[in-house]
Amino acid sequence: MDVLAVVATAMWAILPAYVPNNAAVLADGGRPIDGGRTWGGRRVLGDGKTWRGTAAGTLAGTALALVLNALHDSVGAALGVTADPFPVLAGVGLAFGAMVGDIGASFLKRRIGRERGAAFPGLDQLDFVVGALACATLFAPAWALATFEIPVLVVVLVVTPLLHVTANAIAYVLGLKDEPW
Ligand code: CTP
Ligand code: MG
Repeated sequence: MDVLAVVATAMWAILPAYVPNNAAVLADGGRPIDGGRTWGGRRVLGDGKTWRGTAAGTLAGTALALVLNALHDSVGAALGVTADPFPVLAGVGLAFGAMVGDIGASFLKRRIGRERGAAFPGLDQLDFVVGALACATLFAPAWALATFEIPVLVVVLVVTPLLHVTANAIAYVLGLKDEPW
């Protein structure tokens, strides 16, 4: 097994799930998805989950999948990527799933009483990738099952939290995010 090819394939295939959250931060504003509603005395999701952010994130991730497809035979091949190009539904699934996973985590955080922006180590780093993998498997099962073989999946689940922490720290230093997580 070529370790570099596995790492390249893992990063390439999960990349469309990485950008939605960052695009949502940049697009922030607008109506919250929960419309301000509460459940059990706490917000259902909170002001940090907006329609605009969710739409922007889904579009950005899907667009990135299409850009990667255009680079598949040149850059992808040079990097040793073994995954097939993203079916459009796989791109949508990865991007939308990343948003859904993040929204699901906010729902859980509100239920246990953590306010918007509070950190939840572990959940914050993996929510989006779990949502992305689940949605991609639902929307494009053949591609997802062929692409995320066990070694690729392991790399995704180990590297993602590390990259997430680094990216958010950078966004915080640049003043794009209010908290470093
Ligand atoms: N965002 C958005 N819509 C989403 C996800 C994120 O508008 N579906 C924007 C919001 O401005 C949010 C920012 O991106 O504040 C950062 O996202 P995140 O860290 O996920 O939200 P938090 O504000 O930390 O809220 P929570 O505690 O619910 O995660
Ligand atoms: Mg947060």
